[in-house]
Amino acid sequence: MSIKCRKVKDLNFVWDLPGSKHVTGITRHGKTFTVVNSLAQVQAGVLFFNCQQEDAPGYIRADRYTDRGQIITALKAGHKINYIPIGHQGMAELEFECLLMSVITEAMGRGGYKKKLYVVMDEIQDFCPQGNKKSNAHWIARRGQRFGITGVYISQRPQEIEKVLLSQCEQHIIFKVNDFYIPYLNSYRLPGDEIKSIFDQAEKYSFLVYDGLKLEGPFKLDV
Ligand SMILES: Nc1ncnc2c1ncn2[C@@H]1O[C@H](COP(=O)(O)OP(=O)(O)OP(=O)(O)O)[C@@H](O)[C@H]1O
Ligand SMILES: [Mg+2]
Repeated sequence: MSIKCRKVKDLNFVWDLPGSKHVTGITRHGKTFTVVNSLAQVQAGVLFFNCQQEDAPGYIRADRYTDRGQIITALKAGHKINYIPIGHQGMAELEFECLLMSVITEAMGRGGYKKKLYVVMDEIQDFCPQGNKKSNAHWIARRGQRFGITGVYISQRPQEIEKVLLSQCEQHIIFKVNDFYIPYLNSYRLPGDEIKSIFDQAEKYSFLVYDGLKLEGPFKLDV
């Protein structure tokens, strides 16, 4: 425990940057917690597609029985929605695509989200695995910014995500990694062994931020 972590009260230094964000690292090391709790504080709508049924304090719970129009209206007003899909995988995928379609239709039809909207997709490798080039997640990554929508894609297994989606991400928030992440890190010319050893010596739940040019951190969300 010798590397000093910078404690941050929010992640606005990342959320304010243009472009989609990819969040990765091994299980139970703070990915979802950090994203959900830091976005709870931003002045913007947040749609959290919560397939793991994680806690989301300050978010309004919704599911397939919630009126879609009400969800969109709440998001446009800057509320945070904790959307829980039905457990079954195929069904959850369908819900995911339908919900994103509603968000996109609203954006295209009415000129976008004036207050800004973050769409957080947990376990994205299950919804946009390699070979899936048709997901609405691609539209958000490619065209979302123009309409005020920022995609935040969370995954434990970046090697399983469709590469086109990953290549659209402008920032990477990297939590503790192991050897399986080396190919992913190398694909961005990031030093895998060095990064692994940073996490071995830094506090639990710490993360690094990579913007395509420089690697910063470690940081830790201080809640
Ligand atoms: N910054 C933090 N401060 C205090 N506790 C934290 C912090 N980050 C995470 N935790 C604790 O660790 C738990 C696990 O974190 P989290 O659910 O974010 O893991 P994860 O990386 O998303 O794992 P998985 O890939 O399995 O979903 C949280 O429920 C919370 O209790
Ligand atoms: Mg998680």
